[in-house]
Amino acid sequence: MDYQVGEIVKLAIGADHAGYYLKEQIKEYLKSKNIDFKDYGTFKIESCDYPEFAYKVGQSILNQEVDLGILICGTGIGMSITANKIKGIRAALVHDEQTAKLSRQHNNANVLCLGGRIISEEQAKKIVDIWLYTSFEGGRHEKRLKLINQLTGL
Ligand code: RB5
Repeated sequence: MDYQVGEIVKLAIGADHAGYYLKEQIKEYLKSKNIDFKDYGTFKIESCDYPEFAYKVGQSILNQEVDLGILICGTGIGMSITANKIKGIRAALVHDEQTAKLSRQHNNANVLCLGGRIISEEQAKKIVDIWLYTSFEGGRHEKRLKLINQLTGL
């Protein structure tokens, strides 16, 4: 399902231990904006494995329980590698406002990956805000997304 700005959006959120703190901060931010979300864990700071949470959030999107997902690990890299192996998931690892915007406009990213040990809480909130309120442009970018699927079987 493609998300366009203005639609009621429901999010899935997940993190490993290195992303746990930022996940909790982002949850507070989402609550303050009345954005509905489902938390897939982790629910504690003990060491755990990021693929488990990337998989759960990806499945939640594919099952259409939610529209979009946010995944956080230490760097965001492990989450993005895992999520991008799930058919139908377009995960973008974002560190700044410009790539947040372009990942929606050009790539129609349905998962935002963040590095809990890389960016500040303030930066993360700015990124989430832009990412949620930017639409896919379609057009020439649509053709390229179709080509990704054709060439990779995903
Ligand atoms: C955990 O130490 C760390 O490796 C993980 O959170 C993530 O950054 C992996 O990509």
